[in-house]
Amino acid sequence: MLPDDRRPIGVFDSGVGGLTVLRALMERLPHEATVYLGDTARVPYGTKSAEVVTRYSLANARFLLARDVKLLVIACNTASAVGLEALAQQLPIPVLGVIEPGAKVAAARTRTGRVGVIGTPGTVRSGAYARALKRARADLVVTSRACPLFVPLAEEGWTTGEVPRLVARQYLSELATTGVDTLVLGCTHYPLLQGVIAEVMGDGVTLVDSAAAVAEAAEAVLQERGLLAAKAATPPAHAYFVTDTPDRFLEVAGRFLGRPVEQAEQVDIRPV
Ligand code: DGL
Repeated sequence: MLPDDRRPIGVFDSGVGGLTVLRALMERLPHEATVYLGDTARVPYGTKSAEVVTRYSLANARFLLARDVKLLVIACNTASAVGLEALAQQLPIPVLGVIEPGAKVAAARTRTGRVGVIGTPGTVRSGAYARALKRARADLVVTSRACPLFVPLAEEGWTTGEVPRLVARQYLSELATTGVDTLVLGCTHYPLLQGVIAEVMGDGVTLVDSAAAVAEAAEAVLQERGLLAAKAATPPAHAYFVTDTPDRFLEVAGRFLGRPVEQAEQVDIRPV
């Protein structure tokens, strides 16, 4: 008999950025129910210490576990970079981060062996991408750059035009001259700025967004463990929770998810 596990997939991010990963999950796994938590009261994670981000991540994971999720996807590069190990050790369900899947795609794509990584200060400081890329291919030369202003630009929906172009130029002009042919968008907000990032990096550079690779990895884990949901008569439910008032989240969520989010419930996450 085919497996039919109707428990949802739990997904969390510091805010709305993880919706780019949720979108890929929904596209690849259309029969799966999901529960999304955006820790909007404590965003951004990217500028906070590893210790604090890990603590927040554990609290988020506990919240989702209480909603009976069968798989946890850390849809935030910063939380994946610093907290994946702790979460995988402490949780009784499989846990996926976004770093490893994205790194594998980049390692497979590059021809020159020179890979660029852009992310939040926390992600870049952790060195998690450089390690994952070298695990995938030891001879890679990795150049990383923190681009903190991309997050508020994406949140504001300011993704085209002169302002994001200037910011992208400031962050990336030097990186564009280092011979990288592959650039990892190592932050869940950055896919929204793909246009200006591609413009500054030039035609010869492939941008890697880990969302699709994460969805593929999620499918593989569910399949391996017999946790997939079968197609049901009614479409699966998708629930949204946030830790600050939902108005702002609801306003911008559609841009990240590719479809409007009608309702999100505000919750109080107990610190661990
Ligand atoms: N979503 C976070 C990430 O992918 C970026 C936003 C933040 O700094 O919290 O790293």
